[in-house]
Amino acid sequence: MKDTILVVGATGMLGEPVARQLQKDGYAVRVLARNPDKAKTKLGDSFDFIRGDVEDASSLVKAVDGCFGVHINLKGGPRAEDFVRIEQRGAANVARAAAQKGVQRLTYLSGAAAFEDNSWFPSIKAKLGAEAAIQESGVPYSIFCATHFMESLPLAVRGKRASVLGKQPHRLHWVAAGDYAGMVSRSFQLPDAANKRFFVFGPETWTMAEALEKYCAAVHPGVKVSSMPIWLLSLIGKVSFNAELQFIAELMRFFEKVGEGGDPTEANELLGTPTTTLEQWCEQQSKAA
Ligand SMILES: NC(=O)c1ccc[n+]([C@@H]2O[C@H](COP(=O)([O-])OP(=O)(O)OC[C@H]3O[C@@H](n4cnc5c(N)ncnc54)[C@H](OP(=O)(O)O)[C@@H]3O)[C@@H](O)[C@H]2O)c1
Repeated sequence: MKDTILVVGATGMLGEPVARQLQKDGYAVRVLARNPDKAKTKLGDSFDFIRGDVEDASSLVKAVDGCFGVHINLKGGPRAEDFVRIEQRGAANVARAAAQKGVQRLTYLSGAAAFEDNSWFPSIKAKLGAEAAIQESGVPYSIFCATHFMESLPLAVRGKRASVLGKQPHRLHWVAAGDYAGMVSRSFQLPDAANKRFFVFGPETWTMAEALEKYCAAVHPGVKVSSMPIWLLSLIGKVSFNAELQFIAELMRFFEKVGEGGDPTEANELLGTPTTTLEQWCEQQSKAA
């Protein structure tokens, strides 16, 4: 019989590639969804869907029952209290249910800026809180501190314009979600991957502007990449009472200050080095379009 892995947040941009990779690697994948019909429409019917909400602890006990592993892909926000409510407490609820039901491995997507020094920023504080709850649950864990994903580049394109918010001076090891998904899947198979924090970096470094220029040139020729001041987005967010825009402005202020941290050596040696270059990823996107 196949081992079952529950994926929390499989409908998400970074949860779906993990769910699909796990299935490809021979696991039975159960998807926790607040709205299973919507999730089925998005993901297709090859998964086993179970209704649940990370804020409803009782729904999680049933969801993790019989699972070998659980993968958590959650995004909180946009307000500080929503990060705590969804990402921190949500992950803690999943970890508690996993411990209760004897789950053998928990994996969680954190970030490459998740360090105590950066905990003044609400989403980082929630990620560190989620990590602590997972570590304290007693369930063997693998935490993935991933840098910026190539999959987030399309989010900067609006019609015929793509915007880099602020100066964004840091060079980042952009990683493809497919490479990360392979690492998560392998971590479930390796006893040595237990109780570790893995840093996930792609093979090359690009600034945000460079990466966006390359993406647009390859996938959206004709789209112009320009710089937009962060204060302008913040102002638009405030006057339109749009909390999401206000959060994106704060996030970009954070990224302007803070680059990626950590050392990917252990992750690369144990789980396989991400190899997809930005050019290769852009080619895949062009073909899929
Ligand atoms: N983008 C990057 O470059 C990057 C880099 C490193 C780390 N990260 C981190 O990666 C994480 C995931 O990002 P993403 O882009 O995959 O986010 P996303 O697309 O917004 O997906 C979030 C997932 O969480 C689920 N969810 C939200 N609230 C839930 C609840 N109460 N109960 C159950 N499920 C719930 C959503 O399900 P529904 O379908 O029900 O909404 C969705 O599947 C974020 O924390 C982000 O900070 C991102």
